[in-house]
Amino acid sequence: MSVLDPDPPYRWIPEMLDPPEHTIWRRLLAPLFSPAAVARLADRARSHAVSLIDEIAARDPRTCDFVTDFARVYPTTIFLELLGLPVEDLGTFLTWEHAILHAPPAERANRVQAMGQVIGYFTEVIAARRGKPENDLISAAVTWKIDGRPVPERDLMDMCLLLFMAGLDTVTAQLSYAFWHLATHDEDREKITADPALIPDAMEELLRAYSIVQPARKLTRDADVHGCPMKAGDMVLLPLNQANRDPAAFPDAAQVILDRTQNRHLAFGVGPHRCLGAHLARLEMRIAFEEWHTRIPHYHLAGPPTEHADLVLGLTHLPLTFS
Ligand code: HEM
Repeated sequence: MSVLDPDPPYRWIPEMLDPPEHTIWRRLLAPLFSPAAVARLADRARSHAVSLIDEIAARDPRTCDFVTDFARVYPTTIFLELLGLPVEDLGTFLTWEHAILHAPPAERANRVQAMGQVIGYFTEVIAARRGKPENDLISAAVTWKIDGRPVPERDLMDMCLLLFMAGLDTVTAQLSYAFWHLATHDEDREKITADPALIPDAMEELLRAYSIVQPARKLTRDADVHGCPMKAGDMVLLPLNQANRDPAAFPDAAQVILDRTQNRHLAFGVGPHRCLGAHLARLEMRIAFEEWHTRIPHYHLAGPPTEHADLVLGLTHLPLTFS
């Protein structure tokens, strides 16, 4: 839920639902995002990562914009695979993603237009899968029933729109911050390249230290938190990066310690709305770390990165030079 929008005219499913409706949707969606389901995407994810990185590694001069050349394209391609959508639609998806999530204020009218286009696109895909099911998330979703009745078309659309927003930009942003850190901390980068077995722990630490999501909640009753009075109906922002750098929870919280033990961070949230795509996100990130550092072990900043801040924090550009 957006902190800026206490009574939104839209409904992101399952993010904006409460139990018991939320629980029903999570039960339907969970098998599609389980470790086993996600593992089935691993080979294709790896081959997408490898082909993107090989193309970058072969460049002369040896420079790239990590965000636009890799971090945006890679998760979007896997998202298309997950939903059984043609990879040729990648460019269109990237344009919509930019308009919905990152359009500058002057172009905000394009946001609504792009949301309409995404909904129009999914309307056609849902109709097509009803006629001819395939082995993908949307084909499964059109067979779901809630209380014995098929899920309304509008709800399926709201779910697709939420998956679109939750699944693309987050991995992009998380990879961008991680690679910014590694491009500017030679020792950490060298540790990863020398010992790829460190990658899973290093990834968790970078998730902790650079948490990008800022969830929001609406208060259901008056409350007082550490002397701060809040009223029912107020919106509160929960910046997970603050929690994850809390010195009371993590020793040397401001330091990145790649082999940190005891790292129970909140980068994927907590409670009933905990990230549904966490296994997928971890898989995508691990593969990107492994394949990138095998092919491009030495890289540095080629210019200043640019950041953006919204419901999800992220980088717009990360210019890199490599050898
Ligand atoms: C590194 C990448 C990611 C991060 C850091 C992240 C983080 C989060 C966080 C913090 C939440 C909780 C929001 C809240 O409490 O309101 C969340 C929810 C969610 N995420 Fe992710 N996410 C990532 C990737 C993904 C991916 C790849 C997908 C799926 C394609 C996904 C799907 C979802 C969904 C559906 C929810 C809503 C769950 C619910 O409301 O029950 N996420 N994510």
